[in-house]
Amino acid sequence: MKKIPVILDGDPGHDDAIAWVLARAMPGLDILAVTTCCGNQTLEKTTYNAGRVMALIGLDVPLAAGRERPLLAEPIIAPSVHGVSGLDGPALPEPDRQPVAEEAAAFMARIIREHEEAVVLISTGPLTNIAALLLLYPHLKNRVRHIYLMGGGIGHGNWTPAAEFNILVDPEAADLVFSSGIPLTMAGLDVTERALVFPEDFERIRAVGNEVARVTAEWLDYFYQFHQKLGYPGAPVHDAVAVTALVRPDLLVMRDLFVEVETRGDYCRGATIGDSYGITGKKPNVRCIMDIDRQAFVDLLVKAVSHYGKGAGA
Ligand code: RIB
Ligand code: CA
Repeated sequence: MKKIPVILDGDPGHDDAIAWVLARAMPGLDILAVTTCCGNQTLEKTTYNAGRVMALIGLDVPLAAGRERPLLAEPIIAPSVHGVSGLDGPALPEPDRQPVAEEAAAFMARIIREHEEAVVLISTGPLTNIAALLLLYPHLKNRVRHIYLMGGGIGHGNWTPAAEFNILVDPEAADLVFSSGIPLTMAGLDVTERALVFPEDFERIRAVGNEVARVTAEWLDYFYQFHQKLGYPGAPVHDAVAVTALVRPDLLVMRDLFVEVETRGDYCRGATIGDSYGITGKKPNVRCIMDIDRQAFVDLLVKAVSHYGKGAGA
């Protein structure tokens, strides 16, 4: 079966890292590149973390660092969730590659231009780089086959009561992407807070016994600390749902909605407003994921870490 060409864009971040472990293990994906954005931590830290994750999982593709800051907004980082490094917890190998000289948007544009077919983007952080790509290279829009993104929430936020972190960090970027006309699948909090990996699931992953499995379990151990304090029964592995939407949509319940991003407002900036009842009369622009087969999702993660043989990245 023809592989799907994919670029991974994110802000690792524990759940970004787990999403990339999953993506790398999927035989149907042809990962062309990794790009990083500021979000969970500064660009420097997310790029360093991306290099470490890529070394761990043996992802031998180019890495490009994105923009130092959101399009207009002041940066927001999340050390309370991901730690000062942005990927606190288990020791990781040092990066085995330097980022390319080009900034992520220019690099994505070159990859997309040179690839013989349209490319899928999987975004697991703020949408800054993708918005920059669309702003700087609008003629390439039709060469982006689909964007699978973790972000938003039709019913609620997690960084403010109204806004989810990825969207809130760069609402202007999100507004550009959501109004681009490119096919979008949104893994928002509606589903990602149901994509819970329970502590007993951490042990299933750890028991697989290879280096990637051990590190993934320790990422979950760390990531769960923040969520456990909030009363979650498990770790919501938000970003891995964006990959799951591409490789196993059968595990998901989705509905097409017209969604717009609030870029103003004192209380609602960064909210993703879904027109659940068709009140606006506007055509849906987003496929929103609303539910997930949690057990099957965990089984997919266990299968993914089993892909990596003994020793890192084998
Ligand atoms: O709100 C969850 C999102 O914010 C995830 O992508 C997580 O990595 C953080 O970036
Ligand atoms: Ca992320």
